[in-house]
Amino acid sequence: MDRIRIVGGNELTGSIPISGAKNAALPLMIASLLTDDTLTLENVPHLADVEQLIRILGNHGVDYSVNGRREKQQEGYARTINFTARSIVDTTAPYELVSKMRASFWVIGPLLARMGEARVSLPGGCAIGTRPVDLFIEGLQKLGAEIDIDSGYINARAPNGRLTGNRYVFPKVSVGATHVLMMAASLAKGETVLENAAREPEIVNLADCLNAMGAKIHGAGTETITIDGVDSLSGARHAVIPDRIETGTYAMAVAMTGGDVTLENARPDLLQGALDVIAQTGAEIIPVNSGIRVKRNGAGISPVDITTEPFPGFPTDLQAQFMGLMTMAEGKSRITETIFENRFMHVQELARLGAHITLAGQTAIVEGVSKLKGAPVMATDLRASVSLVIAGLAAEGETTVNRVYHLDRGFERLEEKLSGCGATIERISA
Ligand code: EPZ
Repeated sequence: MDRIRIVGGNELTGSIPISGAKNAALPLMIASLLTDDTLTLENVPHLADVEQLIRILGNHGVDYSVNGRREKQQEGYARTINFTARSIVDTTAPYELVSKMRASFWVIGPLLARMGEARVSLPGGCAIGTRPVDLFIEGLQKLGAEIDIDSGYINARAPNGRLTGNRYVFPKVSVGATHVLMMAASLAKGETVLENAAREPEIVNLADCLNAMGAKIHGAGTETITIDGVDSLSGARHAVIPDRIETGTYAMAVAMTGGDVTLENARPDLLQGALDVIAQTGAEIIPVNSGIRVKRNGAGISPVDITTEPFPGFPTDLQAQFMGLMTMAEGKSRITETIFENRFMHVQELARLGAHITLAGQTAIVEGVSKLKGAPVMATDLRASVSLVIAGLAAEGETTVNRVYHLDRGFERLEEKLSGCGATIERISA
């Protein structure tokens, strides 16, 4: 298994290109199931999760070509990929595939809307929490779906082959369930109103794409989304937004090591809340034409308390990285996780680098230390792993991060981007 070796202590200086967002690309790719035309997506990142979803969609009959050529691995940033689901050859998403990536469960919405039926494996638990699917089931039932659960699979059918618009109030904000209901309602008969919907930028990105395909969606980005169902959708060309979590991660890396880095293509409006928090820690955040410039000179890191919340609040996907930054703050900070119940697995690994963190329920209390010291570490999820990388960049001496496959799921060319800014970081292939 590959490892990442870091020798910490260097400031970061230069520029880092921000890739297309994983969490925007995945639902956009799934939307290709809604039409027999070609959906062309620009700015698709080259990530393990994207490749895995290409395989999963292929199982349902989605053909793809990268930059006009059909090939498995296309190196290079900002790929343009054509997805064509001329016909759906299988409405079952099997356990072997869904268990590898939770987002693949989201195929249930388009399959049901287009084919009138879907059989999708329950995704099961995962490292960061139990992550149930009750909201998907309840929401699709509101649209008229008949659902039963049998042998670990959800069997869903639309009576007479088509879903019917309705009003659904989410009892809890869910990004995935909002994506799925928006896709399903686009092809339903009549109007659907989704209340207490997720407002994440990835929701807006998907709604814009669906509208370009002929859907009639209003209000994405607010808590009430209205969808007028249409009979069919066409192809479109649409760009994946820049990755706000990658942006925030590198901004925190610079806030931690010091230096001056321009995050090319980054969009401040996608993570203003998090940027404000990073500025409060003492880094300078400067919007520039090409993206966002992040600077910190010799000044210390100020402690800031945060609580994760649905957008526009502080994102749970930046919580681990922020904890990394706070381990070297001049004082005590409190980090409260409200989205996932088990998203503190980085705590004990950060402690291996010398961090002082105590847990009290869903809150981590971080006592900043003046220096961290490199050590071998490993993490059990994507964002936790990258928090160890940024802590390693600031630590004295050598840190090795094991289980790099977590990082490959969501960070494109991580070591290349960081070494381009002066970090000593390399991948060691097993
Ligand atoms: C998306 O997951 C992201 N994944 C996650 O990013 C992100 O952490 C999360 O949204 C929150 O922002 C993708 O976009 C692919 P949710 P999702 O449904 O949609 C509960 C990463 O590292 N819930 O908004 O699965 C759920 O358990 C990943 O890139 C129910 O109770 O998250 C959680 O507590 C990790 N019932 C809360 O809602 C349901 O039916 C929010 O989850 C659905 C969700």
